[in-house]
Amino acid sequence: MCGILGAVIHDGHSDLKGILLPGLRAVEYRGYDSAGIAVMNGEGITVNKKAGKLSILEETLGEAPIEGSVGLGHTRWATHGAPNDENAHPHWDHQHRIILVHNGIIENYATLKDELLAKGVQFKSETDTEVAVNLIAFYYDGDLPTAVRLAGKRMQGSFSMCVMAADQPRLMVGIRNEVPLLVGHGEDATYLASDITAFLAYTRDVTYLEDGEMAVLSDEGTKYFDVQSGREIEKTVERVEWNIEQAQKGGFDTFMMKEIHEQPSVIRQLLERHLPSPNEPVHMPQLDELIKDNDFRLVSLLGCGTAFHACKVGKYVLEGLAKIPCRVMYAHEALYHQAPISNSALTIAVSQSGETADTMGAVKSQKAAGSKIVSICNVVGSSLTRISDQTLYTMAGPEISVASTKAFTCQLTMIYLVAIWIAEKFGRADAAELKHLKEELLAIPDKMSAILQSEKQIEHLARVYRQVRHFYYLGRGVAYPVAMEGALKLKEISYVHAEGYAGGEMKHGAIAMIEPGFPSCILAPKSPLLEKMVANMEEILSRNGEVMVITNAPDRFSKYDVHVFPFPDCPQVFSPLLMSLPLQIFAFYSAKLRGRDIDQPRNLAKSVVVE
Ligand code: F6R
Repeated sequence: MCGILGAVIHDGHSDLKGILLPGLRAVEYRGYDSAGIAVMNGEGITVNKKAGKLSILEETLGEAPIEGSVGLGHTRWATHGAPNDENAHPHWDHQHRIILVHNGIIENYATLKDELLAKGVQFKSETDTEVAVNLIAFYYDGDLPTAVRLAGKRMQGSFSMCVMAADQPRLMVGIRNEVPLLVGHGEDATYLASDITAFLAYTRDVTYLEDGEMAVLSDEGTKYFDVQSGREIEKTVERVEWNIEQAQKGGFDTFMMKEIHEQPSVIRQLLERHLPSPNEPVHMPQLDELIKDNDFRLVSLLGCGTAFHACKVGKYVLEGLAKIPCRVMYAHEALYHQAPISNSALTIAVSQSGETADTMGAVKSQKAAGSKIVSICNVVGSSLTRISDQTLYTMAGPEISVASTKAFTCQLTMIYLVAIWIAEKFGRADAAELKHLKEELLAIPDKMSAILQSEKQIEHLARVYRQVRHFYYLGRGVAYPVAMEGALKLKEISYVHAEGYAGGEMKHGAIAMIEPGFPSCILAPKSPLLEKMVANMEEILSRNGEVMVITNAPDRFSKYDVHVFPFPDCPQVFSPLLMSLPLQIFAFYSAKLRGRDIDQPRNLAKSVVVE
């Protein structure tokens, strides 16, 4: 959840503030409760840290450079201790010998703290991080890698850290356990970070640390060690495809709007990779490799938040198109529920970041139970991809906005492709029907572009409802999870209470809430269920409720006193791709009109690496 960045300058020193602050800005979406940097110069380590967003630290530091040979920085999403100056990272040990930044949670920190208190250590903050740094200091006798390793063996939980010692002007040590940490190999410096984007301005050459590994960055280059045994290990350098432009706003005011607008192009590219033409079968070598026989009986779909909604759409799509039974669970529920699973099951784990702790935990347990794992993931080399048998990369480029948009529609697109691949491979659908579906899927990016042209219309709807405090979103079939996703988007960035319901469920209780000032958004794609949604709408109108309709059958709603946003025609199964865009834009403007911080909504962080 926190963003961390460390840099070791290769020769001499450089303006580390000028490296650390822009790097932290790029990973600030991981947490923005406080920020801090520590820079080693000839006279020791200078620390600056402040509660609040990175901009507050930037203002405090002003324009002057901070020169140094080694430095580290942090943006925090608070877990232990309030988001104040004292609890901000970096943290010193009580004798100011060791300093570090940390991402994750030390689960046994209370026990370790008691042990250190008994040895006379004094604590200033309430953080588990201060326990970690004092433990490292306890083992430190001039050999930093060994001290980090010995402390690392004692700490339980999911964490990654960058560590410096006050008497080692050219050394930094990183350690990883279940939380990402990457080494970036630049020309002028070597970096340690929680995320590629932190050092993307300097290098695309990356080494991924695995759980239980350490990196030691010094003038001798970078060395890697296994934490348990202390044995040196060989690691490879990989080149990532992302570039720095993708991680910037590109002329938009917010990352969210930029990412909304990227959807036609990233989906077009995704389709080009797997479905160059409707006359060819879906190209998915990863599945060819994994699913050789028609021998799996169940698909288990796992994810959290927006990715979970993609999984819920996936159930309708895989059962409808590929005729395979599917089970969908929140990853955090699946983790503690002993659902029977066998080696004839296929688990599809969906995650933008590939770092979500809940999803990781559930996947590990399904793998241990014998299921094959396919992940649908956006971040190349992320933890999830490393434990999956195969990964289908959405390749949407960095998603920086905390509210997920392009990752969701790319996840949906990948699920459609998987369903068509299964249907084709095992003859579960008629060839003519499949060809028609492929043509329609390939037509989606242009239809998305057409929707984006109507942004003003959706902004107008947001103005109409700018005072409301509650919203229902209703859909049936594939539109039901889209209703849930629309409600989540509105909640997370505008702080308007919203709920996504299955249309049929309204009369079982939720309709009691309907009154003027409590509007509903009806998702009504052309389908055999269209009339059911009209009935839902009529029930709401007859109780003085207000209604906004997202539909590709606008004529059906012309005689009603409702706001209609029409979207281009498409087969019902693909309507989630098109309906998602107006819902994202509606949430965006609802938040903007309420003066919210759209890219960094309160209480949230981008990748949730703690359980
Ligand atoms: C919502 C959102 C979250 C994530 C969820 C899973 O806009 O972004 O709900 O979808 O935290 O994250 P990933 O996909 O990274 O596993």
